[in-house]
Amino acid sequence: MAVKAILKMGDPRLFEISKPVTAFDTPQLHELIEDMQHTMAALNGAGLAAPQIGIGLQVAIFGVTRNPRYPDAEEVPYTVLINPKITPLDQEMEEEWEGCLSIPGMRGLVPRYKHLRYQGYDPYGKVIERSVGGFHARVVQHECDHVQGILYPMRIRDMRNFGFNEVLFPGQLAQEE
Ligand code: NI
Repeated sequence: MAVKAILKMGDPRLFEISKPVTAFDTPQLHELIEDMQHTMAALNGAGLAAPQIGIGLQVAIFGVTRNPRYPDAEEVPYTVLINPKITPLDQEMEEEWEGCLSIPGMRGLVPRYKHLRYQGYDPYGKVIERSVGGFHARVVQHECDHVQGILYPMRIRDMRNFGFNEVLFPGQLAQEE
């Protein structure tokens, strides 16, 4: 159990497609998830994917609890999601600001599906299946992108909507995924 270093944008490992997990409930998988939990908590992130700590497996964690520092953030239940698959429920998209622990200090306006179903597994191999919308749907899409080797700037439609936190949102704290 440890806080791991986060790979930053520019590292080619962030652009690789991660492999699915084939063995559940193993000491190695539990250790990886513990490392990810400690790393995300230490950096106060909203989500983290295994490739961000250099592990090319389809494992993501995310969750947002009510935090007075981020009064506008919607709550998202803490989830470990393995081998995720996303199915949009309709074609409606919305643009919102996102940040990423691999791109510290920056934010971009990213289009995402508004409503989707996601499927995957928990660390014990139990199926997870949820239909979600809004910020929950956004966080899942961001983390699923990581295991496919995609970083959010690759989805920004207008690069004028990509910049530094302190310039875009002076005096505001920003959470990263
Ligand atoms: Ni990210």
